[in-house]
Amino acid sequence: MSGSPPASARHVARHVAIVMDGNGRWASAQGLPKVAGHRAGALAAKNLIPRAKELGIKTLTLFTFSKENWGRNPQEVRDILSLILDEIQSSESELQRQEVRLKIIGALDDFPSDIAEQVRLLEAKSAHYNGLTMIFALSYGARQDITQAVSAIGHKIANGQIDPDDLDEALIAEHLWTAGLPTPELFIRTSGELRLSNFLLWEIAYTELYFTTCLWPDFTPDHLNAALDSFANRKRYFGKSRHV
Ligand code: IPE
Ligand code: MG
Repeated sequence: MSGSPPASARHVARHVAIVMDGNGRWASAQGLPKVAGHRAGALAAKNLIPRAKELGIKTLTLFTFSKENWGRNPQEVRDILSLILDEIQSSESELQRQEVRLKIIGALDDFPSDIAEQVRLLEAKSAHYNGLTMIFALSYGARQDITQAVSAIGHKIANGQIDPDDLDEALIAEHLWTAGLPTPELFIRTSGELRLSNFLLWEIAYTELYFTTCLWPDFTPDHLNAALDSFANRKRYFGKSRHV
């Protein structure tokens, strides 16, 4: 926490969403295969958990695997899937110890059934924890989410469950994969890329954006703290006048 006031003294982003980018560049800079970058990236994510809690974060959403990532080289996709499975199997006791509630957003059914089942099991087992909610976006795309929500609402209108005149923002939000979850206050993307890449488009309408050139495997709790400092120093108006 060097140099920063304690969480209680600054305005903390309760929900932080991160696009963890730069694993490949990190690996090639080290002369390592890409999978080593993904492994180091998984470790960087795990290392954030205790400090995120100390810093006052309640919800951490991690863009783990996008819908578009299925289009990567098949060997890389296999490597990432086996890493996800390894992490699920090896992290359970640590997640319990840290009282982490696990939540998945995305089309989990796109994954092989062994992975999907184990992820769902871990999600169910951790449902009662309230130390930190970690939301993993798996086979996630924001446009795909909005599309499935519109489709679900369309079916309900067609069978008379919903009156189209009742359609409002809250109703749409209730049909998204993120239903019931708080909206992120701070969005972080590493590796110097300045894009949203189809992540949480509906949810981040008023989220503060923070970009850093740090490659994801190098991202430490101190980098997270720096992002929270930046957030704490911003004034948010939500479209209202700053002169009231
Ligand atoms: C992010 O790192 C990890 C995933 C998208 C799964 P990248 O693999 O995109 O890393 P770069 O962009 O090639 O450096
Ligand atoms: Mg990338």
